Amino acid sequence: MDRIQITGGNALNGSIPISGAKNAALPLLIASLLTDDRLTLKNVPNLADVNLLMRILRNHGVDLAVDGKRPGTTMHLGETCHLTARDIVDTTAPYEMVSRMRASFWVLGPLVARMRQAKVSLPGGCAIGTRPVDMHLAGLKELGAEIDIEAGYVIAKAPKGLRGAHIVFPKVSVGATHQVLLAAVLAKGETVIENAAREPEIGDVAECLVKMGVKIEGIGTSVLRIQGRDRLEGAVHSVVPDRIEAGTFAFAVAATGGDVVLEGARAVHLKNPLDVLRETGTEVTEVANGIRVKRTSGAIQPVSVETQPFPGFPTDLQAQLMALLTRAAGTSVIRETIFENRFMHVQELARLGADIHLHGDTATIKGVKTLTGAPVMATDLRASVSLVIAGLMAEGTTTINRVYHLDRGFEQLEQKLTRCGAAIERLSSG
Ligand code: EPZ
Repeated sequence: MDRIQITGGNALNGSIPISGAKNAALPLLIASLLTDDRLTLKNVPNLADVNLLMRILRNHGVDLAVDGKRPGTTMHLGETCHLTARDIVDTTAPYEMVSRMRASFWVLGPLVARMRQAKVSLPGGCAIGTRPVDMHLAGLKELGAEIDIEAGYVIAKAPKGLRGAHIVFPKVSVGATHQVLLAAVLAKGETVIENAAREPEIGDVAECLVKMGVKIEGIGTSVLRIQGRDRLEGAVHSVVPDRIEAGTFAFAVAATGGDVVLEGARAVHLKNPLDVLRETGTEVTEVANGIRVKRTSGAIQPVSVETQPFPGFPTDLQAQLMALLTRAAGTSVIRETIFENRFMHVQELARLGADIHLHGDTATIKGVKTLTGAPVMATDLRASVSLVIAGLMAEGTTTINRVYHLDRGFEQLEQKLTRCGAAIERLSSG
């Protein structure tokens, strides 16, 4: 198994191209199931999760071709994928695949909407929390799907097709919003989703669906009004830049000191975390080609933060912020309100000398003067990258094991950091 080795202490300087967002690319790829025309997606990041979803879609019968990057093209142009689901040959998504990546459960809505039946494995356990799918199923039922659970599989049927409905989610869920949106576009009549998630990745998917011929009002708000169609058309769409990747590098620069432009990053998608970063004493400015993050002197100031759905502070940046705060001049508090078990990085950060006390959903972080490098274990995607940030700040060498977690969601992580001066390398186990 590969490991990543970091020798801490170097400031980051230069520019980092931001890739297409994993969490937009996944539902956009799934949207290909909705039409027999070709969907072309540009700026698709080359990530383990994206490649796994491509395999799942091929199983369903999606014809998929990927244009690689040509030599000389800039890093952040990503890959271009052409997807055509002319004939869906299999409406089953098996446990072996869905259990490896939860987002693949989102094929359920599009499959039942187009094929009037689908059998999709329940996703199963997850390291960051229990993550139920009750709202996904309730939403599809309201659209007229009959849902049964048999032997760990959701069996959905809609012999006469789905019909529009008024759905009010009891809680904000990114996945349930994608699921219902991706089904409602092929339902008869109008669907209204109230209390929809407002994450930019949902807006990106909705924009693509509009290009595919659907009328959607309220994009970017918590009320989506969708006019279903009998048939969707093909489209060409470019995946939105990854706000979580950009936020991660922004926190890394604040942690190490330095001056970096995050090329292509959109400040409007990161308002809350960038304000938090400013509170820590980091300069953040919007520039023509992205966001500039600079910290040249002065201590990291402590902050208090609570994770919230967009536009609040994202749970997907909680671990990275915590890594930064381990060296703040004072005590910070982070409350995780989205997932109940998203603190697995705490024990690993402690191995580097961090002083963090956990009480229920709240972590109290007392800043320490120095972190010291140590071997640590990656647990989930965002927890793993928080260890990278800590390793960049620590004195000495940090070795991160189980880096496959990082490969699920960060494209060319070592290369992007190396070109800004980090001492980071991947050790292949052969
Ligand atoms: C998405 O997960 C993201 N995944 C996660 O990114 C992200 O952490 C999360 O949204 C929150 O922003 C992708 O986009 C692929 P939710 P999702 O449904 O959709 C509860 C990463 O590192 N809930 O918004 O699974 C749920 O338990 C990841 O890239 C129900 O109770 O998250 C949680 O407490 C990991 N019932 C809350 O809602 C349901 O039916 C929000 O979860 C669905 C969710």
